[in-house]
Amino acid sequence: MAVLEHLTSQQAIDLENKYGAHNYHPLPVVLSRGEGVYVWDVEGKKYYDFLSAYSAVNQGHCHPKIVGAMVEQAKTLTLTSRAFYNDMLGTYEQYATETFGFDKLLPMNTGAEAVETALKICRRWAYEKKGIPENQAQIIVCENNFHGRTTTIISFSNDPVAKDNYGPFTEGFIKIEYDNLAALEKALESNPHAAGFLVEPIQGEAGVYVPSEGYLKKAKALCEKYNVLFIADEVQTGIARTGKMLAVDHEEVKPDILILGKAISGGVYPVSAVLANDNIMEVITPGSHGSTFGGNPVAAAVAMAALEVIKDENLAQNAQELGEVFRRELNKFIPTNDLVVKVRGKGLLNAILINDTEDSSTAWDICMALKENGLLAKPTHGNIIRFAPPLVMNREQLMDCVGIIIKTLQEFKK
Ligand SMILES: Cc1ncc(COP(=O)(O)O)c(C=O)c1O
Repeated sequence: MAVLEHLTSQQAIDLENKYGAHNYHPLPVVLSRGEGVYVWDVEGKKYYDFLSAYSAVNQGHCHPKIVGAMVEQAKTLTLTSRAFYNDMLGTYEQYATETFGFDKLLPMNTGAEAVETALKICRRWAYEKKGIPENQAQIIVCENNFHGRTTTIISFSNDPVAKDNYGPFTEGFIKIEYDNLAALEKALESNPHAAGFLVEPIQGEAGVYVPSEGYLKKAKALCEKYNVLFIADEVQTGIARTGKMLAVDHEEVKPDILILGKAISGGVYPVSAVLANDNIMEVITPGSHGSTFGGNPVAAAVAMAALEVIKDENLAQNAQELGEVFRRELNKFIPTNDLVVKVRGKGLLNAILINDTEDSSTAWDICMALKENGLLAKPTHGNIIRFAPPLVMNREQLMDCVGIIIKTLQEFKK
């Protein structure tokens, strides 16, 4: 079969099923084009994208400024490895550190790699700065976390689907309940070898759990009290998604280590980053960490353009305003039906809770019905559907989407 031959949806699905590992369970829609808030399937049907590639495409599909930066750079220099300097990385590092207010940035490619990097930095800091005895460092994490898929990261997951039969697992993690300050304080108090607290400011994959107001600020204060690093995983919540550049900005919290990924490239290219101040980042020495592609010139050009788009187009403010409209409209609808019991979220990271058992197929079936009606979304866990459109959406488009969602829910029969 010629590579460029036009495939039908079914043909494309059959090919993936036959030749690809089955590590995902996609909605049966085959997309071949995207622009702004829209995607099109191979048969030409247009949809609103309400997943945004798990919040990577905050700037909208194929943003011309970001794609332009990528194409220009790709024609000039793509990869040198860090064996040599390149003329883009330093400029990007300066831009990003100034944007987020840190001394230094360590560039990686995927979110999971950036989380791994943060864990390694934290452990080194524990031994070299805090004076924790060798191999004794503990990092506190939260139940129902999602930080990626590496062996170490899944070691502290409590999702059996992500974890089963991948042992033996990495040690050195203490799990506490999310949004529970007493549990955090108890863990800090009873573990003199605690080195860090790794937390998602909103738990995205777990189902868009927004912690109580003040949780992040108080958790940061506790970390300071016990000389433990506060590590914010903003891979999903960062880059304007929740209505501020970072979700921690809602509580004016400055993490000791900040982890970014996904939308730092506008979904155009795999780019991730770890940011920290010198007193922490200086534990990283030549040869102690790295990545062939991390910090390549294309990534640097793309990330700078992607961050500029966020600022130039006021996407944080747009996410904040449209998020309020979205939750208000759904909250009006909820009392009129018995299918949806709750809408929650911040900015344009939202979810609805379906009134059914966790293991029912209702959320999936609703997503199938939404697809028929021209809107793509996906259940996160069980009976929760996440709604996270590109942040370049306008009010009229959002109201159109609210209409599609409500109509679909009203007509839905289990
Ligand atoms: C909070 C968080 N951290 C890390 C990751 C992993 O990112 P990646 O899939 O790019 O490895 C994700 C992905 O969804 C995430 O939501």
